Amino acid sequence: MVINPLENWENLRYNIYENYYRKAGMNMANANMEALGFKKLTTEEIEAAGFNPFKMIGKDWMLVTAGDESSWNTMTASWGFMGIIWGKPAVMAVIRPQRYTKEFIDNSDYFTLSFFDEDMRSALLYCGKYSGRDVDKEKETGLKPICIDGSVSFEQAKTVVVCKKAYAQDMSEDCFADKGAVSAWYPDNDYHTSYIGEIVSVYVK
Ligand SMILES: Cc1cc2nc3c(=O)[nH]c(=O)nc-3n(C[C@H](O)[C@H](O)[C@H](O)COP(=O)(O)O)c2cc1C
Repeated sequence: MVINPLENWENLRYNIYENYYRKAGMNMANANMEALGFKKLTTEEIEAAGFNPFKMIGKDWMLVTAGDESSWNTMTASWGFMGIIWGKPAVMAVIRPQRYTKEFIDNSDYFTLSFFDEDMRSALLYCGKYSGRDVDKEKETGLKPICIDGSVSFEQAKTVVVCKKAYAQDMSEDCFADKGAVSAWYPDNDYHTSYIGEIVSVYVK
């Protein structure tokens, strides 16, 4: 057997870092986003990008993902907001209590919103139909997870929005001015939790 000292050193280095990150309870190092074809936007570029949340979230849908390289979950969402709050660009995702992904968002400081081209629609349909409690979404969809800025997204995404969790609040029946929404959307009383996330980085292809 020929031992390649350089390759061995790379493996050793990788293991040292991996153990360090795991022991510290931290995420692994970032994916090389540039090598994967992503460009990181500056704050000015984020504001100038002209994202259309009505289309991106409402029509194209997104994956909401949280966790780290060893344990993460993702689900499809088509409800949410993008805008400005507390002087910063932010998003809101609304997650029902029974979603497995909610556990990951609750236990994480960060979450991501990932947007895809139409060819990934079937993967989004799958992630919106089945729970990560019952299936392996990575295996079933071919989604390739990547670690990015303290959270997880996917190689196939065309836009990745990394968010720092800033605020979480359970919706409550008393607070609905529009009682019609209660009967239309919450016959099982499974009110969404709304999560506001400050946008910390955006990557586009
Ligand atoms: C198009 C579409 C949009 C969805 N939007 C939301 C949403 O905004 N909030 C939510 O809680 N669930 C939404 N869902 C349902 C979750 O994606 C679905 O229950 C998923 O299986 C949850 O997976 P998990 O248990 O692995 O987290 C949506 C599903 C689809 C197909």
